[in-house]
Amino acid sequence: MKFDPKLNIDLSGRVALITGAAQGQGLATAQIMQAFGATVIMTDRDVERGEKAAKELGERVYFFPLDVADANAWTTCVTAATRLAGSAPTILVNNAGIYRPNPIVSETEENFQAHIAINLHGPLLGIQAVVPGMTAAKTGSIINISSIASVGGFKDIASYTASKWGLRGLTKSAAKELGHLGIRVNCIIPGLIETAMSTTNSNDTNAAYVAQMPLGRIGQSEEVARMTAFLASDLSSFTTGADIVIDGGQTLS
Ligand SMILES: NC(=O)c1ccc[n+]([C@@H]2O[C@H](COP(=O)([O-])OP(=O)(O)OC[C@H]3O[C@@H](n4cnc5c(N)ncnc54)[C@H](O)[C@@H]3O)[C@@H](O)[C@H]2O)c1
Repeated sequence: MKFDPKLNIDLSGRVALITGAAQGQGLATAQIMQAFGATVIMTDRDVERGEKAAKELGERVYFFPLDVADANAWTTCVTAATRLAGSAPTILVNNAGIYRPNPIVSETEENFQAHIAINLHGPLLGIQAVVPGMTAAKTGSIINISSIASVGGFKDIASYTASKWGLRGLTKSAAKELGHLGIRVNCIIPGLIETAMSTTNSNDTNAAYVAQMPLGRIGQSEEVARMTAFLASDLSSFTTGADIVIDGGQTLS
């Protein structure tokens, strides 16, 4: 294979659907994919924030309300997005998530089920919704946003941890099942990233995490978004079923 010096992330002509895109890492991913030429379908259950963010981004960016735990809403969203964008999404970023810490001894069924419904069943529903269009297009890249909670164990977040370990497993099964259709499925494993979600932790907890990192600082949404764009693009054409850790080296220790 001859190296092409012009090789760059180029998502022009692609339609990318991103969940949980109203803020944080999802919003950064929408921005970077727009910059790399994609038509971007931002989705979120926070409609007001999502609509405003999409409007600010402007060109080739649309917003659709979507609660990822709602199977019917997925069908409606993908159908509408396909009509609006002119072709079906061939990039899906399963980014939406919740993080509600609680010690195991006082964990409730409601909190456990909410993590599974949103962080794990949501991505499965998303994959099911986009695979027919990707199959017809003979190409697709699905990126699931897990967490370093799925690399080891963190106390007081058992439900979150279980959902994110599950998402890694879902990624690997999907990669095996869908590869022959030209669909790649990969998992990003962020560490501590500066978003609304990470403010759920106390400052002391976050400082202790940073102290474990060789890079010695919290990560930024754009740093995750850049890797997501790489996995969405043809530059990662031989990568599927992978876990890509973006954590400043925290899980090395
Ligand atoms: N911030 C971190 O430190 C960190 C670390 C590891 C992994 N992650 C993961 O990264 C992803 C993005 O998180 P973030 O840090 O940007 O958080 P965030 O809280 O800033 O954004 C999450 C977004 O998901 C949306 N959302 C929540 N439930 C939803 C649902 N049922 N349907 C649709 N949208 C829903 C929210 O409205 C919000 O816009 C999540 O999956 C999270 O678990 C975050």
